[in-house]
Amino acid sequence: MVSFILCLLPALLATTNAQAANLNCNLCSGTAASCQASTQTCPVDKAKGGCFTVAEENTLDGTKTTSFSRGCLTDYNSTIKDPVTVTLGNGKYLRINTTRCNDTDNCNSGTLAVPTGSTTVNGLQCPTCFALNVTSCNSQITPCTGDETYCIDFIGTIQNGSATLSLAAKGCATASTKDIPAGTSLVSAFSTYNLTKVTSNPAEKTPTSGASPALGRFSFALYLPGLTGLLLVKLLA
Ligand SMILES: *[C@@H]1O[C@H](CO)[C@@H](O)[C@H](O)[C@H]1NC(C)=O
Ligand SMILES: *[C@@H]1O[C@H](CO)[C@@H](O)[C@H](O)[C@H]1NC(C)=O
Ligand SMILES: *[C@@H]1O[C@H](CO)[C@@H](O)[C@H](O)[C@H]1NC(C)=O
Ligand SMILES: *[C@@H]1O[C@H](CO)[C@@H](O)[C@H](O)[C@H]1NC(C)=O
Ligand SMILES: *[C@@H]1O[C@H](CO)[C@@H](O)[C@H](O)[C@H]1NC(C)=O
Ligand SMILES: *[C@@H]1O[C@H](CO)[C@@H](O)[C@H](O)[C@H]1NC(C)=O
Repeated sequence: MVSFILCLLPALLATTNAQAANLNCNLCSGTAASCQASTQTCPVDKAKGGCFTVAEENTLDGTKTTSFSRGCLTDYNSTIKDPVTVTLGNGKYLRINTTRCNDTDNCNSGTLAVPTGSTTVNGLQCPTCFALNVTSCNSQITPCTGDETYCIDFIGTIQNGSATLSLAAKGCATASTKDIPAGTSLVSAFSTYNLTKVTSNPAEKTPTSGASPALGRFSFALYLPGLTGLLLVKLLA
């Protein structure tokens, strides 16, 4: 009996605390119009959580999907903080505008614009690829555009309804991707992305005059086995 009460006590206290410090967030997902019309809310513990707003456009499944969502974050720091765009080659991209707030009830009821892409090349390049159900993808070098000045490389999952698919992707991305820690989730109207492994580094310049820099590196790579061989001979001698 005593242990039963001891077990119950923290739960009761937690419930009381949570109720005392709840934040209500606007809740919706779907088209811009259905999100604008929504009067639904969700509660979240103000000490840990917050509200989010997302406007997203992506072409990952071959068609362009535009979606809007608002809701509760159990952990305020578990999601991306700033707008992100990622271009993966072959017409595949993911563009997310997002904000978070935790100060007042329904602080997330504003409307965000879907990020517009740019087709203006910016002199940088990245390996690009995208594949589902795999842990790596074969990339090809693609010029970057607009403000996508970083190269991102990630693996993760897409949860779509009850289905969870793994994915691997590389591409040009906005500098805001350099702050994304592994384990971050991106919540959109129809899918939740969980980035289990992610790196993002400044993109390399596109070689200007012909293929000389690439050739330089290529020929160095050709020399490498020879150099290693020489070194081995040296060491063995
Ligand atoms: C609430 O939001 C502010 C401003 O973004 C942030 O500094 C603070 O850490 C947030 N609170 C929690 C509990 O995460
Ligand atoms: C979220 O991150 C901010 C800044 O790094 C930190 O001050 C805050 O305590 C974190 N919130 C939680 C709930 O961990
Ligand atoms: C995000 O939405 C806001 C509000 O509509 C807009 O001012 C901003 O330019 C958008 N950001 C991006 C990256 O599209
Ligand atoms: C991924 O794997 C799941 C389960 O093995 C399968 O149902 C699905 O069709 C696969 N999707 C793709 C795009 O290969
Ligand atoms: C996710 O589900 C939606 C609706 O059920 C479907 O149209 C879309 O193709 C799915 N996306 C992926 C990546 O499986
Ligand atoms: C993402 O996936 C990792 C590993 O599968 C898991 O530990 C983590 O809790 C997930 N994060 C979210 C926000 O779902």
